[in-house]
Amino acid sequence: MNRRNRPRVIANFALTVDGKVSTRAHTPSTFTSPRDKRRLLEIRARGDALLVGRTTVAADTMSMRLPDRALQARRRARGQSAQPLRVILSARGNLDPAWKVFQSRGAPRVIFSTFHMPGATRAALAPLCDLHLLDADTIPLEDVLTALRELYGVRTLVCEGGPTLFRQLVELDALDELHLTLAPCLFGGAAAPTLTGTNPAFLATIRPFRLESLRVVADECFLRYRALRR
Ligand SMILES: NC(=O)c1ccc[n+]([C@@H]2O[C@H](COP(=O)([O-])OP(=O)(O)OC[C@H]3O[C@@H](n4cnc5c(N)ncnc54)[C@H](OP(=O)(O)O)[C@@H]3O)[C@@H](O)[C@H]2O)c1
Repeated sequence: MNRRNRPRVIANFALTVDGKVSTRAHTPSTFTSPRDKRRLLEIRARGDALLVGRTTVAADTMSMRLPDRALQARRRARGQSAQPLRVILSARGNLDPAWKVFQSRGAPRVIFSTFHMPGATRAALAPLCDLHLLDADTIPLEDVLTALRELYGVRTLVCEGGPTLFRQLVELDALDELHLTLAPCLFGGAAAPTLTGTNPAFLATIRPFRLESLRVVADECFLRYRALRR
């Protein structure tokens, strides 16, 4: 995807030594340290918007907020809003207005979904967020990125997953920077998702990265990669 039509995209994940991002049951990613959680907020704070897929918002009971006042102050000093826009992607639209993300104060929320979203959910969510509904079974991620850039002025987008969404970013060649936390544990399980999900197919082409930073803190390894464009 042409870089001019989209924000700069940064993704952040934690993975086990065997490359898993969650258990087979897709239970929450609670396998990293408080230091990693802090790092997640620091990376989140870079974005004009935070993008997450519906399963991750639900599984990790996310508020998608940036609660840290010092990070908020740094954003304001850079000319950004105090917190990044909260953006959720869901084809089926089974989003519960009682979720933390809809009940917590913070940045405005934007939902990209389809006409499959139940009418009652639409009515309940309409006062809480900007709803973009498409007459389709799925949403081209390219359109989401363009809309974020053009309608919301998003220049830097942070994606915190999950893997289904991440894989689409990679397939679109729309990923610029990848942050990984390597956690000192093994999950095993062929059915447990890796960074690119549970899709058994290889990517169409190998995606290369350059390692830009590697830091070891206690038992964890913090890595930052830059995507190399073809
Ligand atoms: N270790 C980590 O750093 C990390 C990070 C994030 C997530 N996780 C884990 O990953 C697991 C979730 O994995 P996942 O791959 O299922 O999560 P996901 O990518 O967050 O969610 C997938 C869902 O997002 C929606 N979606 C994604 N792309 C879409 C598109 N183009 N158009 C419309 N809707 C789209 C769909 O929602 P609908 O089904 O509503 O249509 C889809 O089922 C959880 O266990 C979570 O804890 C781990």
